[in-house]
Amino acid sequence: MSVIASAPGKVILFGEHAVVYGRPAIAVPVTQVRATAAIDPAPPDSGLTIVASNLKKSIALSSAPEDEPLAAATRFTLDRLAIPVPDVIITIHSTIPIASGMGSGAAVSTALVCALASFSGSPLSAQEISALVFEVEKIHHGTPSGIDNTVIAHEQPVYFVRQQLPKKVRLTVGAPFTLLIADTGQSSPTKRVVGRVRQAWQRQKARYEVLFDQIGDIVDEARRAMETGDSKALGSLMDENHDLLIELGVSSSKLNKLVDAARAAGALGAKLSGAGQGGNMIALVEEEFADEMTEELKEAGAARVICTRVQQQN
Ligand code: PMV
Repeated sequence: MSVIASAPGKVILFGEHAVVYGRPAIAVPVTQVRATAAIDPAPPDSGLTIVASNLKKSIALSSAPEDEPLAAATRFTLDRLAIPVPDVIITIHSTIPIASGMGSGAAVSTALVCALASFSGSPLSAQEISALVFEVEKIHHGTPSGIDNTVIAHEQPVYFVRQQLPKKVRLTVGAPFTLLIADTGQSSPTKRVVGRVRQAWQRQKARYEVLFDQIGDIVDEARRAMETGDSKALGSLMDENHDLLIELGVSSSKLNKLVDAARAAGALGAKLSGAGQGGNMIALVEEEFADEMTEELKEAGAARVICTRVQQQN
């Protein structure tokens, strides 16, 4: 029997980087882009093959290195399900931009884990899926906070604190709001940027701890603004968070240009999202102006703009 599973992309709204150092962060799923994993039976004794269609790559599980992320996700899941390696072909496809802060790695792993669990007839809880994907994230990123696997596996807005109990992640969205996600077109591997922040933190611990505290305070205020549906306050908090990310040294001239263009076009607030030094920025906009603002961002150099609506999930 064939099965298919999918997982959304995500953006971090507040708190990136500081979240690695124990402060809270807020992230939301982006359902307009998704990763899918399809499992089809293969001839007896052919083993398990993973076909990554975007990367034009085919991986035989039996000979894949331990740190190959897709193979690792598969092995962790088969171990957890306590089932032998099935004879199957797993085809992975994703419309989530790679290395741009939208969680493509975690989404691909999540789709793969869900598909395997459903293929085996033992569906896993969102929390169990998140925990398995976290193990794969460690291979991608070194010291991930765990926010990507959490928001993607739960597929709902989350208020996340590293190592906090999963039941506390749920976030109330008092009123829906519209976000534009604009890509600089510059890929930015999370591991490299997180490594640079770590080096800077090691050199200037006191200064960085203060910046992380300030970001943490913004996240808590943003949580309240989201709960009460105060989009004006949310926009200002995005602006403040962006300024602190500049101070952390993770913005770039292209990110700043897009942030400035969004603000000049009337966005309620704008900031970089994710690791920074490339990747995406986000702008909080009034829905009726979303198309117009999308054009403004493209004129300012955005390689692609995704519009998403953030709302309470059931
Ligand atoms: O670039 P992204 O969205 O995959 O995430 C990076 C978020 C960081 O806070 C910089 C790192 C982390 O593990 O949380």
